[in-house]
Amino acid sequence: MAPGIGPSLRGVTERHSPDFIRQQLQNGRGDMPGFQDRLSAEDLEQLLAYLRTLSGPPSFNRTPAPPDPAAAARGQALFRERCESCHLDGGRQPGIGLGFEPPAPILTDELRRHTPAFIARQIREGGGQMSAIGADLTDAQVADLLAYLSALTSREGP
Ligand code: HEC
Repeated sequence: MAPGIGPSLRGVTERHSPDFIRQQLQNGRGDMPGFQDRLSAEDLEQLLAYLRTLSGPPSFNRTPAPPDPAAAARGQALFRERCESCHLDGGRQPGIGLGFEPPAPILTDELRRHTPAFIARQIREGGGQMSAIGADLTDAQVADLLAYLSALTSREGP
């Protein structure tokens, strides 16, 4: 695996619940392997404590390909139906006031931060405070949601 392909971890504890991060470290997601066998409960808490010290805006290392407009439009309709109750304003606002701590994250930079495989797994299997909302979606529907998230993602540098 090439070095430096993972997302920036600055501010990660402000975007995600401790359970999301614990699950990510133990089970992996997308292209990141899990480290279940090698991390004790104490190791996990020490890693979390370290991640809490990483503040500041994240940097980005991906530029998504422009999405197919028809797929993005289908994805937007599906997003309204299935995602917008928590990821407010089409994913442009954090889900403040919905009882999530930290709030359900803004999704405008997903495709610059994460691989499609990571995002697809979050949709299908959930993680942390998000349940497996999209467990019943077809591959084509997940691809449409990714096209919508890609349309939300700016293509310019930070
Ligand atoms: C019931 C509320 C809820 C619904 C509905 C929901 N989400 Fe989430 N989502 C969350 C929360 C809360 C998190 C943060 C998880 C955590 O950190 O514990 C999250 C995290 C994510 C992430 C990971 C963000 C990142 O940067 O790592 C993605 C991607 C995502 N959601 C996409 C979706 C999509 C697409 C849908 C619709 C198919 C959806 N969500 C539906 C609450 C929800």
